[in-house]
Formats: sequence, C-alpha cells, structure tokens
Amino acid sequence: MSETTMSGDDLAALEAETAAQLAAAADLRAWDAVRVGTLGKSGRLTALLKGLGAVPAEQRKERGASLNRLKQALEAAIEARRLALEEAALDARLRAERMDVSLPPRPFPPAGAEQGGIHPISRTMEELVALFGAQGFSVAEGPDIESDWHNFGALNIPEHHPARQDHDTFYLPAVDGRRPVLRTHTSPVQIRTMVTQAPPIRVIVPGRTWRADHDATHSPMFHQVEGLVIDRGITLGHLKGCLIDFLRAFFGIGDLPVRFRASYFPFTEPSMEVDIGWNRKTGELGKGGDWLEILGSGMVHPRVLANCGIDPREWQGFAFGMGIERITMLKHGMPDLRPFYESDVRWLRHWAADPLSPPSLAEGV
Ligand code: FA5
Ligand code: MG
Repeated sequence: MSETTMSGDDLAALEAETAAQLAAAADLRAWDAVRVGTLGKSGRLTALLKGLGAVPAEQRKERGASLNRLKQALEAAIEARRLALEEAALDARLRAERMDVSLPPRPFPPAGAEQGGIHPISRTMEELVALFGAQGFSVAEGPDIESDWHNFGALNIPEHHPARQDHDTFYLPAVDGRRPVLRTHTSPVQIRTMVTQAPPIRVIVPGRTWRADHDATHSPMFHQVEGLVIDRGITLGHLKGCLIDFLRAFFGIGDLPVRFRASYFPFTEPSMEVDIGWNRKTGELGKGGDWLEILGSGMVHPRVLANCGIDPREWQGFAFGMGIERITMLKHGMPDLRPFYESDVRWLRHWAADPLSPPSLAEGV
C-alpha cells in the first residue's frame, strides 16, 4: 500500500512519530526540521494530502476528513512545541543574564590604579543642581568674557556708579572702543536669560567669576551660583522660602537659623544679604548666636526687567548670588580657600568626593 492510501492506523502512526520527533527536538532549529518534514512542500502530511485525489471516490470523503483532523492535530502539536522551546530559550537567557546583586563589587579602581575624585567645587555644583532642580530650576550658562553692558550696564550699574569699584574688575583690551571684562559675577547671565527667554523663568547659573582680589577667603578666580525667578505675582515670600529651603537642605541642618538683612545691590530692590547662624569661636553651624553672611539677594529691579524687554507691571521676580567656595568651605569646615586651586594631590585626596556616589536627594546631599 502506498503512502497516499495509508490506512487510519498509519495516520495514527504519523501523528505518534511526529510527536516523538517534536519531543526530541531540543532547539528551534531541530523543531523547524520536524515542521518542514511534516508540513513542508515535500513533508509527509503534504504528500498524503496530495494523494487524496487518487483515493477511490467512495472513500475520499472519509479520508479527507481524517487527513484534515490529522493536519489540525499536527499543526497544533508543532505550534505548542515552538512555544515551549521559545519559552525555554527565554528562561535560559534570563538565567544567564541575571545580575547577582549579592556579589561584592569589583575593586574600583582596578588594583594598582589611582582612584580619581570629584573636586569639592564640582561636587557643590552637582549638589546645587540637584537641590534647585528639585525646586524646578534649570541650569543656564554664559561666557566668562562679558560685555560691559551685560556685566554692568543692563544690571543698572552705569559707567561712573560707585558699585563698580566694589568689583575689582579685570578689564580686557578694548574692541571697537569698548572694553570687555572678565565677568565679576554670574549676574550677567540674568540678562542673557531674560533677553533670550520669555517668562516664566526659573534658572540657576553656576560658573566661574573673576575679581582682582587675593587672600585666604578671596581668589582672583572663584565661583558663584546665580538664581533667577521671573513669573507673575512673585513676592519676597517666594524668595525667602526658596532660599531657606535650599540652605537647610544644603547644610543638612533642618532648623538652621536664616536671617534676611536689608542691603543694597543696584539690580535688586529691595535687596537683602542672607546670613546663617553659627558659632564664631568653634565654626559650628546652626547654633551659637553669631551670624555669617552667605549670599546676596533681592527682588529684580523693574529697570533691569525693562532693560531686557520684560514688562515690570506684568512680571516680577527675585534673584540671588552666592559664592560657591564660601558655602563649600562652611559645609566642610575648610579654613582656607587657596588650596582649591593648588592641585596638591594630598589635599585633593582628602577632600575629593566619590565619583561613584553622586548627590542624591533621597539621602540629603
Ligand atoms: C554679587 O556678586 C551679586 N551679583 C550677588 C547678587 C545676585 C545679589 C543677585 C542680588 C541678586 P557679592 O559681590 O557680594 O554679590 O558676591 C557674592 C558672593 O561671592 C560673596 O558673598 C562671596 O561669597 C563671593 N565672592 C566675592 N568675591 C570673592 C572672591 N574674590 N573670592 C571668593 N569668593 C568671592
Ligand atoms: Mg557681598
């Protein structure tokens, strides 16, 4: 008897053999060989289906029905095996790729290599970005070499204003009759932000600043962080809340005393210096009844808004600027600012932050 006229028993045998072959197929490649050998163009079931025409007419209906049942059974068995093999392959991959979190970390740096560290100034900048970022601030930047207009004029400090004397400015050779300056503060980035962005604005500006000034707490190159908020209905209350929150989080002292003291900057009105409580004798922050000045702040002067094309009747805001060296020294109890820039490897090794643990708000910075 030829295959095309195989009896019902032989159909059962084909089903059993295929099932055995499928069970033996250990991977998708072996499975595919079984599939092609059964359902493919020259597969065994296909050959039986092709032979249906040669079956005597009186048996053809029954034979056709049996073959159809077999075809469905084989297709189902083949598909089921594919799913099982794919699942097994995925399981194996997941097992192989699983990370063992109980493994001790690999030594870092590798044995024999020096571990680098994050300079304390960079670390403080990372902390500023994390803390003010949580208050919705983004980071803005500006050039170190500034025009007189950005550094002074637009900030309401005209040519012969005495406030210019406070800044010990480094002037550069004149270009087109105007002398660029090494920016004496980060405040010119207030101007750059307001002339290029429409309010509402909420930025901080960490960056390098320059003044002809040098002693244990002043360096000719130092760093400031500027803050600027412009929106509708901004009040002194917003300024105070923003800075008190920041200072308490930055120094890690939940009840750090913060004092706002009337002061003067040409670009803010009213202006305030901000002091924190400390003990002058021991240097301890947060108690002791003494006050230490830490930053300048105020409500953005309407004339500065107008200089930037912002209508002061519609928009208000506050700004602040603080010395990054100053807050870093206070936070860590560093007595002298000069070593920040002396590249003494022993000092750096002592004060550098771990590059593998960036500031995280969850732990307090
Ligand atoms: C300003 O520079 C204002 N632009 C701050 C400001 C911004 C006020 C926005 C209001 C609104 P002042 O000159 O006080 O202010 O400098 C701010 C801080 O920079 C100082 O408190 C001090 O921490 C730091 N600083 C100033 N000069 C030096 C220096 N030579 N070396 C290190 N830090 C310095
Ligand atoms: Mg000051």
